[in-house]
Amino acid sequence: MNIVLLGAPGAGKGTQAAKLVEEFGTPHISTGDMLRAAVKAGTPLGKKAKSYMDAGELVPDDVIIGLVTERLQEPDTEKGFILDGFPRTSAQAVALDAELSKLERPLDAALLVDVDSEVIVKRLTSRRMCRDCNYIGTAADKTCPKCGGEMYQRDDDNEATVRNRLDVYEKSTAPLIDYYRGCDLLVTIDGDRDPDVVYADVKQALGL
Ligand code: AP5
Ligand code: ZN
Repeated sequence: MNIVLLGAPGAGKGTQAAKLVEEFGTPHISTGDMLRAAVKAGTPLGKKAKSYMDAGELVPDDVIIGLVTERLQEPDTEKGFILDGFPRTSAQAVALDAELSKLERPLDAALLVDVDSEVIVKRLTSRRMCRDCNYIGTAADKTCPKCGGEMYQRDDDNEATVRNRLDVYEKSTAPLIDYYRGCDLLVTIDGDRDPDVVYADVKQALGL
């Protein structure tokens, strides 16, 4: 499967990707996770990205496109990939098309996980993540249920930044919904249900 997960911040893209990875072992390419790893490691990329991320703004296209293009050239993606958080702008979508046609690996689907904004604000302000394995949980998880690691709150999961991320999504990323509809790749899934129910629809949409 070669898929793109689309959806507002907090729609549940990472949660659904984790389920697909667990069941099918498909490589998960999350630009947010890649950037947070770079910030943690203090690399030049991390230093450049941090201020954009903390403000809920997008990291410049050239930086992100280079990162994803390189990752797609790694051999494990020959068995498929789940792109999560990329593309987020029209320029990123065009660059992705060009790279995938060069690699002769066309997209099978763009899955839109659809959730209302006010539900998202509640979800993201109570989200916690594992420092060690990136497990996505909530404030109820005092330690990571997967590895026992420390749970933390992302710097961009405060209400003001979440609202800015939602505005940025509407302005820069939501137009991609029409883009993928035009390519006949768009599948919309109601993400405001139990995560396992959402996952059943994801699998059905992908013919899995
Ligand atoms: P990124 O990490 O990609 O953040 P995001 O798109 O804002 O998405 P999230 O990770 O916040 O949400 P999600 O949809 O994965 O939801 P999750 O499954 O965690 O990007 C962060 C920043 O990096 C950006 O702001 C930008 O600065 C930069 N960046 C990244 N990619 C970029 C790009 N391509 N271009 C430029 N800049 C880029 O779920 C959220 C919560 O809800 C969790 O607590 C979860 O447990 C809960 N939940 C999930 N599903 C359900 C459900 N069905 N019911 C109830 N609760 C649920
Ligand atoms: Zn963990």
